[in-house]
Amino acid sequence: MRSFPTDFVWGAATASYQIEGAWNEDGKGPSIWDAFTKIPGKIAEGQHADVGCDHYHRIEEDVALMARMGLKAYRFSIAWSRIYPTGRGEVNPAGIAFYSRLIDELLKHDITPWVTLYHWDLPLALQLELDGWLNPELPEHFAEYARTCFAAFGDRVKHWITLNEPWVVSILGFGNGMMAPGRISQDEPYLVGHQLLRAHAKAVAIYRQEFQTSQAGQIGITNNCDWREPKTDSPEDQAAAQRALEFFLGWFADPVYRGDYPAVMREWLGDRLPQFTEEERKLLVGSSDFFGLNHYTTMYAADKRAGEIVKLSPTGNGGISEDQDVELTADPAWQTSSMGWAMVPWGCRRLLQWIDERYDHPPVVITENGCALDDELVDGQVHDEMRVEFLNSYLGACHDAIESGVDLRGYFVWSLMDNFEWALGFTKRFGIHYVDYETGERYPKDSAIALVKIVAQNGLE
Ligand code: GAL
Repeated sequence: MRSFPTDFVWGAATASYQIEGAWNEDGKGPSIWDAFTKIPGKIAEGQHADVGCDHYHRIEEDVALMARMGLKAYRFSIAWSRIYPTGRGEVNPAGIAFYSRLIDELLKHDITPWVTLYHWDLPLALQLELDGWLNPELPEHFAEYARTCFAAFGDRVKHWITLNEPWVVSILGFGNGMMAPGRISQDEPYLVGHQLLRAHAKAVAIYRQEFQTSQAGQIGITNNCDWREPKTDSPEDQAAAQRALEFFLGWFADPVYRGDYPAVMREWLGDRLPQFTEEERKLLVGSSDFFGLNHYTTMYAADKRAGEIVKLSPTGNGGISEDQDVELTADPAWQTSSMGWAMVPWGCRRLLQWIDERYDHPPVVITENGCALDDELVDGQVHDEMRVEFLNSYLGACHDAIESGVDLRGYFVWSLMDNFEWALGFTKRFGIHYVDYETGERYPKDSAIALVKIVAQNGLE
């Protein structure tokens, strides 16, 4: 039996837009996702999450699912437009009341809330009135919203995540337009990323100055990254893999741990990459109490110099590939999920080791890891052997990383239940609980049961 540290955090994660539904109830304002999903052609099968998993009306039932599994922690996000319907101005008391009730329900079951302040559902008004994250004023509005949340929930919430995956917001929201607000641009991603980092730093500064001493919580940011393995041993391919990682994770983690964007990004992008002021650098350095990581897959990286047009792999999460001169490929022998993402557990271990080295041994929390499969409900049961295998192999990789000295503190599976997978709608099932979208019923999958065992015994066989 390979055991994990006894205080290892075992959890499941979700996000507001993906599960809540109740998109316009109790004073909630619309978000960019409420609008984006209504544009014909943007979402698979024309779906939207007006009802989602109806979690808004089922919090007791959903917390009971977690309690039954023995989960110690639950990561969810707050919909900014439930708290501030237009992103700023008057607070909506019903929004505060909803999350308060959820937090109390979790605590009643000894489940620790991990709260993400921003998981992509920007209040629509801020997009229409201010151009959303392109506007340098946005960080102020985010910081004010964050302050309201710290004040309302910080007596009970001790784990805060400012932003979920600024890379996705920048590249998929403003680069290839796959996600809300659906803009397509070569340069906007870097401007948006800059404002997201400023917003994160401001919110953390407020937490530290006004709340952390009395509330004694932790605050951090969650970044996503795949592993990039050099395709060959050539120095060019090794440099390409390193460059790809710096363009992916270094873009958002370097400012937080080292005070500026990676040198390779400055070199490749020149003036397209904004500058931080001295004051912003100071606010950024050390602005995360833990390293939040969402990790899903691995690809090979090879050097591909200018002149050759490199297509963005549809599944590869490559970023703006022309900016990096990197070609990404997958090994056809790798098993893939229904997202087309390869299952490569050793990539997870290598990424954890890369983070450990580059950022000087930070405490790391995997805030998302999981896979989508075409699960089927048969007589009230789902046999998802492949997900069980996925979880075992990735948790094995986490264990290997810990043994090699990585300070990994926790693991949140994505996701507690099947939910609205953004541009792919309900066509992808990531949950460890099956959701019947017709009736709203939840059913545990075999993977949930496997995880129960790991959590209960705190170790892998
Ligand atoms: C992450 C995201 C989640 C979920 C997951 C699976 O990028 O934070 O909301 O959708 O990917 O695709």
